[in-house]
Amino acid sequence: MKKTHAFAGLVLSTALFGAGLTNAFAADETLRSLADKNGIYIGAILNSQWFNGGLPGNYEQIHKSQFNIVVAENEMKFDATEPSENRFNYNNGDKMVKYAKANGMRVRGHALAWHSQVPNWVNNYKGNKQKLLSVLKNHIKNVVGHWKGQIDEWDVVNEAISNNEPQWRTGSVWYQGIGPEFIDSAFVWTHEVDPDAELCYNDYNLEQGVNPKAKAGFLLEQVKRWVKNGIPIHCVGSQTHVEDTTTDKHFIGSPDSLRSLAKELAKLNVKLKITELDIGFKSGINVSKSDLERQGQTFRQYLDIILEEPNADTYLIWGVSDKWSWLGGLNRQKGLIYDDNLKPKPAFDSILVRLQTYEPPKDTAKKDSTVKDSTAKDSTALDPGQSIKQFNAPNSLSLHVAGRTLFVTGLASKTAAKVDLLDLQGRPVYSTNCINGTVDLSNIAEGLYVVRVQNGSTNLTKRISIK
Ligand code: XIL
Repeated sequence: MKKTHAFAGLVLSTALFGAGLTNAFAADETLRSLADKNGIYIGAILNSQWFNGGLPGNYEQIHKSQFNIVVAENEMKFDATEPSENRFNYNNGDKMVKYAKANGMRVRGHALAWHSQVPNWVNNYKGNKQKLLSVLKNHIKNVVGHWKGQIDEWDVVNEAISNNEPQWRTGSVWYQGIGPEFIDSAFVWTHEVDPDAELCYNDYNLEQGVNPKAKAGFLLEQVKRWVKNGIPIHCVGSQTHVEDTTTDKHFIGSPDSLRSLAKELAKLNVKLKITELDIGFKSGINVSKSDLERQGQTFRQYLDIILEEPNADTYLIWGVSDKWSWLGGLNRQKGLIYDDNLKPKPAFDSILVRLQTYEPPKDTAKKDSTVKDSTAKDSTALDPGQSIKQFNAPNSLSLHVAGRTLFVTGLASKTAAKVDLLDLQGRPVYSTNCINGTVDLSNIAEGLYVVRVQNGSTNLTKRISIK
């Protein structure tokens, strides 16, 4: 099911108010309404700490106002849902499903057949094919059945391919006992239980090229075979746990490579989703402002795949704040879009601005129609001089350009405003503080830009043309 973009230009995001947001800062910054407008899902995990009530209140406020899709960090995995044989625990998963329902979010289920985070009682059946087949089938029957109709998409199989040379992960308890057909069976059983759920194969290092020597090349051959054999697979999830290129000299992945995989999957009518994105730096190094800006550009390049490829619809980040991230265990740091204090990082801005400025090609059919179509009632095509997003905060800001001067009005008296100029790709071009209500733009090249003014808790973002 596809949704047609009914608009080609920039739109007023009056849906901001519809999202039920209450404070000016959150309302101005929402990725969620922009994702809705662009017909994509943007999300972050609910961290395991959230399930125990161990996170500050603004974590949840940010999560529900910024994201329209959710997945549990650990709480729907095998060891969490079936800790002992045939005894199921759905408490945490139910909590997330309830949260998603209350906040109108799509739900990913993660993950059914995976070699990791399986309880010992499963590993004790190592090599016992018949037993392992019935264990996996029973797990899928119960878990998928419990959330039937409430989980929109499942990672049916996770990380079944070896990380080194492209071949199956032979050490997996499922592979060892059953052989690679455990994968085919898992898809078929899941589909039988919940025929409406989208079913994904999920893995990492898929951004390293689509050729027989790379994991994505091996996977593509399997997807072709599954599709040919009528195995119900609808999507490939690319975890996309990557490292900033300047700190990992050996890193060979790239957004372009992942885009190539999306294009190959499109030929098979299979979607590509980014399911666990983080872009970390090596632990221990000092991360500078420009490092964070470059990181933002990489976040944007991965987002471009989701915006531009017709069979790509989901951009899920593996965490909200750098403070609660699994990356420390990978010897990486600072891979997410909010800092330790839950303040948006440059990566957040890059994503936000890209979502604001993206103009889909005219008449492009894209995305799943289950994304709320807010365009019909909310969209108003604007010319480049108009505001793309304006929140009427109590202390209302406005701005306009005359000649080479930017005029900002409505500043709280004596408060300096931070003014950022970004290009239409979300790259920072110029930043300054504005105290007296004017900013000199005489050194800026002609063209279209996005200006962001931040004045205390009031923000304004507007597209301008410099001539
Ligand atoms: C990670 C969680 O973030 C950690 O809390 C846990 O200790 C280990 O698993 N690939 C996956 C995810 O599919 O389930 C993993 O999540 C990260 C790598």
